[in-house]
Order: sequence, then structure tokens, then C-alpha cells
Amino acid sequence: MTIIKKADNGTLGEDDLKKAAKILQRGGLVAFPTETVYGLGADALNPEAAKKIYEAKGRPSDNPLIVHIANPKHMELIARDIPREAYKLAETFWPGPLTIILNKKEIVPYNTTGGLDTVAIRLPANKIARDVIAYSGGFIAAPSANISGRPSPTRAQHVIDDLDGKIDMIIDGGKSTLGLESTIVDLSGDIPMILRPGSITKSMVESVIGSVEYDKAITKETMDENIAPKAPGMKYRHYAPEGCLVIYEGNIQDVATAINNKARLYLEEGKTVGIIATDETKSLYKYGIIKSIGSRNEEDSIAAGLYAVLRDFDEIHADYIFSESFAGGNLGQAIMNRLLKAAGYRVEKL
Ligand code: TXA
Ligand code: MG
Repeated sequence: MTIIKKADNGTLGEDDLKKAAKILQRGGLVAFPTETVYGLGADALNPEAAKKIYEAKGRPSDNPLIVHIANPKHMELIARDIPREAYKLAETFWPGPLTIILNKKEIVPYNTTGGLDTVAIRLPANKIARDVIAYSGGFIAAPSANISGRPSPTRAQHVIDDLDGKIDMIIDGGKSTLGLESTIVDLSGDIPMILRPGSITKSMVESVIGSVEYDKAITKETMDENIAPKAPGMKYRHYAPEGCLVIYEGNIQDVATAINNKARLYLEEGKTVGIIATDETKSLYKYGIIKSIGSRNEEDSIAAGLYAVLRDFDEIHADYIFSESFAGGNLGQAIMNRLLKAAGYRVEKL
């Protein structure tokens, strides 16, 4: 049975924190909210516990987990050869949506790092997350709390939909405020490299440690370019809705016309059609089930709404989903990285 606990106003009571800690210390699984997406936690230093995460998620075992800490000094207990840049990034962006990859110390089991000699470390901003980590010993491995291949969970209900009955506890802390997974910066090599774009942008990272590069797999525009990403998890067809998702790029009037034409055609064939629009553009669409992902004036709201909309369309078994493009802006890189993957890189350029 899965215990479900609802947090009160962003905090979890002492009794419930102790309960979560006990489960984790005994090698169990607890899903908890973070500011990015919900995480599925296990004791990162217990190889058996880490293994359970892979089983519950149906995750390939070569895909390493991020170790979550609650005290920045704990970075030194699990990583070695820590460069100055790591301290600078930690000081600037922790607690927050930044994951740093460093060489691992022996204490971190290979089950947690997917067999790698490096370890990914993050100190989340969400108070419940930090409390759970601190109460349970300080080192919690936590991938996104979804079944592998589904969109990451940004609401407790998403976690319940995917993992109820498979894990020990789910902590409901409301909506994830950011909605996209953390930015991953790899400092284990010669050149600092962003392996996954997120709310902390390349230029924000560069303002602290100077020039960094994107892993080439992030900036590619098609699936067939043969570039293996450095973060093993980025190679899987992540964030995939059930239906066929196509992104339309171009002037918004042209996009709306093209989507309306396609939607009408498929509806006539008896298909279920979903449309991903925004508060400002939803009135342009005439057919299908139209959902606003957020407001174009608040880019944050688009990031925060993306996964929930994809899940909503799964729930109604949409055969086709047509989406506007969200390139441009500060978060464009991070949003489009997820949307393009969900679409299997199907883009109609108008
Ligand atoms: O925002 C987040 O980071 C969320 C919340 C729960 O903290 N967690 C998350 O974990 O997104 P997950 O497991 O869904 O994604 C972790 C990504 C994967 O693509 C994985 O391959 C990569 O990080 N990763 C982890 N450790 C790595 C390492 N040592 N080297 C390269 N990539 C690594
Ligand atoms: Mg994930």
C-alpha cells in the first residue's frame, strides 16, 4: 500500500517527516515534491534501495540518478577533485534547479550512478524536499517520479497515476512551481558542459563561471543526427505522449490556419485531436480539444504547464496533438528541448 500525505501550505509535519525518513532509511521509496518536478526518492548510498527505483519506474539501469542533498557542504562527502567552479555554482544557484556532475567518491554505489565514475548532485529549493532529505540522512537519489517514458510529474496526482501501489509513500506538496527538470552542468571533464537545459540558462551559468558549452545532443534539431548525449537519460524517448505530437513553427496566424485545417481533416476521420495553445492564442482555433499551456506574457507559466497538458491529452487518448512553438525567450531552449523530444522532432515549418 502507498501512504499518501498532503502537505499543509508547503510544509510537512514533523511526524510525517519522520515517517518518510524511516521508510527511506529502511531502503524504501518516497515520492516528494521539488520546485522542478516530483522526485522518486531512495537512499542514494544504499545500492539495494537505488535498485528499487529502477524497478518501480521501469527505468533502464544504465541511466544514472541525481543525488539530492540538503546541505551544500555534503557535496564534499560524495564527490572528489571538486573544481572551484562547482563551489561558485553551488553558492549562486543552490538551493535551486541546478544539478552539478563531479567525479564520485567510493561511498556512492554504482547502482546510483548507473555504473559511471561521476555523480550528479542537486540541492533543491523546495522546503519539503529539503526537510525529507535532511531527516533521512542527507543523500537521496531521486529521478522524476514517473513511469519511464511518460511526461515528468508536476502534480501529486501525476505521481499517483503512475506509481500508486508500487512505492511506499507519496507526499503531495501541490504544483511544481517551475515544471521543467533541473539544468545539468557537467564539471567532471575539461570543459564545463550543459547536458540538459533548464530554468537556469546557459548565460546565467556563464555569468558565474565563464564560457560553457552545450552538449551537442541538446542543440540538434532532428532525431536522425547521430549524436549520443552525454547524460544517458537524454537519449531515451522521454516525455512522450501517447498520441502523435506535431509542432508548428511560424507566424501565429499561419500556424493557426495550418492547425485548423489538419484538425478538421482528422476530426472528419473520427480521430481525437488535441491542440496546445496559449491564453493569448486559444481563440484562434476552431476544432478539436484546445488547451492553453500558459500565457505568452509569462514564459514561466508555459514551462510550468507543459507536462500537465501532455498528460491531459494522454488521459483523453488524443490520436493527434498539434502544438504551437515556444522557441525564443529565456526558457525557449529548455521548453523546446522537452517539446521536440515529446514530438519525436516532428516540426512543420511554415
Ligand atoms: O529536476 C530534476 O533534476 C529532477 C528532480 C526530481 O530533482 N530529477 C530528474 O532526474 O530529472 P531524472 O533521473 O529524471 O533525470 C536525471 C538526468 C538523466 O538524464 C541522467 O542520465 C542524467 O541526469 N545524469 C544523472 N547522473 C549523471 C551522470 N553522472 N553523468 C551524466 N548524466 C547524468
Ligand atoms: Mg526523468
